[in-house]
Amino acid sequence: MSIRIQDGLLSLETKNTLYQIKVDEIGLLRHIYYGRKTKDDMSYLIRQADRGFSGNPYSKKEERRYSTDTLPQEYPTGGAGDYRTPALMAEAGNGSRTCELRFSEARQLQGKKKPEGLPGVRGNKKTAGLEIILRDEVCRLAVHLIYYVFEEQDVITRSVLIENEGDGTIVLNKAASMSIDFFCGAPREVIHFHGRHCMERIPERISIPQGGKLAVGSTRGTSSHHSNPFIILCNRNTTENEGDSWGCMLMYSGNHQEEIGADQTGNVRLVAGIHPDAFRWRLEKGECFQTPEAILSYSNNGLNGLSRNYHRIIREEVIRPQWRQGERPILLNSWEASYFDFDANSLINLAREAKTLGMDMLVLDDGWFGKRDDDTSGLGDWSANEKKLGCTLEELSEQIHGEGLKFGLWVEPEMISEDSDLYRAHPDWALTDPERQPVIGRSQMVLDLSRQDTQDYLYASLISILDRTRIEYIKWDFNRSMANVYSHALPADRQGETAHRFILGVYSLLERLLDRYPDLLIEGCSGGGGRFDAGMLYYTPQIWCSDDTDAIERLEIQRGTSYGYPLSTVGSHVSACPNHQTGRTVPLKTRGVVAQSGTFGYELNPALLSGEEKAEIRDQIKAYRRFYPILAQGDYYRLTEIREENDYAAWMIVSPDRREALVNLVMTHVRANSRFPYLRLQGLDPERLYRAEETGEVVSGAALMSGGYTYDQQNGDYPSIQMHWVSE
Ligand code: DGJ
Repeated sequence: MSIRIQDGLLSLETKNTLYQIKVDEIGLLRHIYYGRKTKDDMSYLIRQADRGFSGNPYSKKEERRYSTDTLPQEYPTGGAGDYRTPALMAEAGNGSRTCELRFSEARQLQGKKKPEGLPGVRGNKKTAGLEIILRDEVCRLAVHLIYYVFEEQDVITRSVLIENEGDGTIVLNKAASMSIDFFCGAPREVIHFHGRHCMERIPERISIPQGGKLAVGSTRGTSSHHSNPFIILCNRNTTENEGDSWGCMLMYSGNHQEEIGADQTGNVRLVAGIHPDAFRWRLEKGECFQTPEAILSYSNNGLNGLSRNYHRIIREEVIRPQWRQGERPILLNSWEASYFDFDANSLINLAREAKTLGMDMLVLDDGWFGKRDDDTSGLGDWSANEKKLGCTLEELSEQIHGEGLKFGLWVEPEMISEDSDLYRAHPDWALTDPERQPVIGRSQMVLDLSRQDTQDYLYASLISILDRTRIEYIKWDFNRSMANVYSHALPADRQGETAHRFILGVYSLLERLLDRYPDLLIEGCSGGGGRFDAGMLYYTPQIWCSDDTDAIERLEIQRGTSYGYPLSTVGSHVSACPNHQTGRTVPLKTRGVVAQSGTFGYELNPALLSGEEKAEIRDQIKAYRRFYPILAQGDYYRLTEIREENDYAAWMIVSPDRREALVNLVMTHVRANSRFPYLRLQGLDPERLYRAEETGEVVSGAALMSGGYTYDQQNGDYPSIQMHWVSE
């Protein structure tokens, strides 16, 4: 039984974890425990003290040790004496901002339900869930806390449905998806993933501030390059392979915020959800608001253990079932090969070369539609520029298929260029402030997808291409941050809803398209990894990880990404050297080793390669296909520590049956007369003997994990070593 309700004690159990909540004597819902599994009632942990300046609810005015400011809560609200971060800020018709939620009922659920209008961890008819209803009897608000348990992956999902049961209007100024109060034994450190365009998801591990809080997030309209909606809490002694860590990943692609702070005595609160700065939602009588889902996990096997939980849940329950097994196409993308400068002949030449090298697909990137020879015009006019191509898109696709390749196409549906027929016809379809000049990003504006008519326009434009043309893959891009988030279709008092309604519009459009073309592979993209989140992964099983294709930069970017997301979601290509972003030259072998830890492809013009390089690419492709089952389904381990200064980066993947492992090491700095690169392997079977395919050495799993493995000194710029260990 993964969920137990017993005398006000609510326990959710996964294979290795316990999550516990308790209703107290005045109906306050207390968070009791989240950690390693035990069968116990953990509420003995909670002690009370009169802490001064921490007031008491009226019914407890004689009992100064009872304060909502000091007790651990499950879904805290603002205005009623808890001075820590609230999860919910509601404003009643009379302007009051006080909200007091008390327990009303709890019931078990069977069968996973997706949050209305939003993506959710999939589950099935047997997935166990729990619904707890809290009520504020004064402003007549019902708050449904919804939990589901994914036992095997050690994951619990949370989301919240907020319902106006009264007659008046209630305004939500903040509606987080989750909150947890860690009482004694609270984590002391937090890892968040910040970044920028071309350097996404850099982990920063810092102490949790006491008295204040760390608030990270995005108000850019997308989950952003700058702050990923994923956060890890851990202890000071947690390493990659040992110790406690707790994760919270928001399944959402828009504005988000994660707030973490320790209170006056060091208890830690984590609140995560839609960013309140760009949010204000009116709830009329009988209306409901649904928050995005948060994916929570705990591991006592260090950060690698936590990552593996997230990798499994995303692989097994987030991405579309048809993309869980089987190979993804190895593709040649036209972007870094020719940017805006192509025609049908040059594309067919690319396809021909790609085929001889052993690839599966040619992807035609930006520049094929409307008036689009650079990035200043044409977005919104989604019909092929036949003059530029020299033929129709259908003919081009047929010719590419004739060369034995599949065909993929780039689109950026959520944008509109000022210089486009669409903007000339519908200026009110752009998100713009009626009284001001718009903020422009990459010479473009954002199309208002909170509107049904723009969604319908895009649906009609895209299906008119997809119905007529053989297209197996779409790259779905988004190339600016939002500003002037004002919808010309919403009244003044609903403008605070635009940003979230936009994301609901994106999800709805993707849903409609995938209903029509269930086998279409969509690769998400936002100037690289600006919308790399579990919300998009629900629709797009892979996401272009970064516009920075330099393999050495990618070591950091892909490592940071690996904390939350599995390799099978990470769009990763070999590009030309000198690299177009950094000017660096990295050996082709190393570029291959790095790109293979993702959905593989190339981003270069093969005609410019030497015969030797082409032969090496053929070998890389063969190796990728051979290693694909391990790469796609295996257990991933970061082998170099987050705070350790190394001259090399290393990671490994172990097959689920532990019979094979692929170990990768890339030197980021070669020194004369240096120490030997050294690794301690992980995840092997200690009882087995493993043979290294490359050297023929035979070493036991126990030795490789306890003693480790020493490599020869390396020479040259950025060399790499890949070793495939196979059980004897
Ligand atoms: C940004 C993407 O990340 C690139 O790969 C490329 O598709 C360009 N946009 C095209 O404009």
